[in-house]
Amino acid sequence: RKKIAVMTSGGDSPGMCAVVRAVVRAGIFYGCDVYGCYEGYSGLVQGGDMLKKMEWEDVRGWLSLGGTLIGTARCMEFKERWGRLQGAYNMIVAGIDALVVCGGDGSLTGADLFRSEWPSLVDELVATGKLTESEVAEHRHLNIVGLVGSIDNDMSSTDSTIGAYSSLERICEMVDYIDSTANSHSRAFVVEVMGRHCGWLALMAGIATGADYIFIPEQPPKAGEWQAELKKVCMRHRDKGRRKTTVIVAEGALDDLLTPITSEEVKDVLVEIGLDTRITTLGHVQRGGTAVAFDRMLATLQGVDAVKAVLEMTPDTPSPMIGIVENNIVRRNLVDAVRLTKSVATAIEARDFEKAMSLRDTVFVE
Ligand code: F6P
Repeated sequence: RKKIAVMTSGGDSPGMCAVVRAVVRAGIFYGCDVYGCYEGYSGLVQGGDMLKKMEWEDVRGWLSLGGTLIGTARCMEFKERWGRLQGAYNMIVAGIDALVVCGGDGSLTGADLFRSEWPSLVDELVATGKLTESEVAEHRHLNIVGLVGSIDNDMSSTDSTIGAYSSLERICEMVDYIDSTANSHSRAFVVEVMGRHCGWLALMAGIATGADYIFIPEQPPKAGEWQAELKKVCMRHRDKGRRKTTVIVAEGALDDLLTPITSEEVKDVLVEIGLDTRITTLGHVQRGGTAVAFDRMLATLQGVDAVKAVLEMTPDTPSPMIGIVENNIVRRNLVDAVRLTKSVATAIEARDFEKAMSLRDTVFVE
């Protein structure tokens, strides 16, 4: 009987609970035992009670919940070989031979490293007398499947990460709230949104709320010139009768010299054209709350496919990442997806914005 562990790792996102529910239930449906690995990779390193067998009823009511009820962490120990060695030991002792990880690119990079190191970790556990040959006999290979849980929608090879649309919905709702007070006072608002190095949330929120101006890292404006452009656009909209001004700033926004564009700077520019301006940094409300229908559906379909992938994998199958591309649930090479994701950051660092834009092709609307 196959034993699969499921964990959530890195920043939480709405839909992670639905992932756990889908993996637990699909696993049971296909005749496996499913374990929840609590607190992300920290749970693997600690072992014992942090790896708990989960039953069908344990995940009742989890479909719509925000956050993750099995906890998550950004685990430093797992970045070290000794942490991974301890994780391998705990998994073998618990009899677990497959891992479904739901997290962002950092968590998935860790997952793939763990899998590629697995044979040498097992050898070391035997060589140091921690486990015997017979204890590891059934555990010579580890199957790992990645699911992308992140509000940032920053992973390559998938059109949407689990949680991104919930976060977008929350941002739009907040901007709508701000709109009523902005309209009343005829004010300008600079709204800063999350996304780390990715502008997807800012761009989509800007389009969906009809913002006057949007700053994103992938399409940086010219240093020293964006101020005049921002003034021109906002004044034009005001001249047409608009009573409020909304500027969305991605937290990772930069100019073309890679200098961060801050909400304070944007506010100062708006004040120069006489606009009574306030800054609202949305913060972690963007990550909280229930999952929207799309994320519940995505988490469920991908969670089920993750279990199928575990059951179909051979030792030679590269670790898959479950994505969604043009409305199809697909399996992509996890290592390639992470590499492509990192190459966006590299292109931005090299100021090759055209390349960054083409790598983030799902972000941009022609
Ligand atoms: O990756 C998700 C995210 O919410 C980013 O958008 C943001 O930059 C970061 O995590 C915030 O991290 P923390 O929750 O540790 O403050």
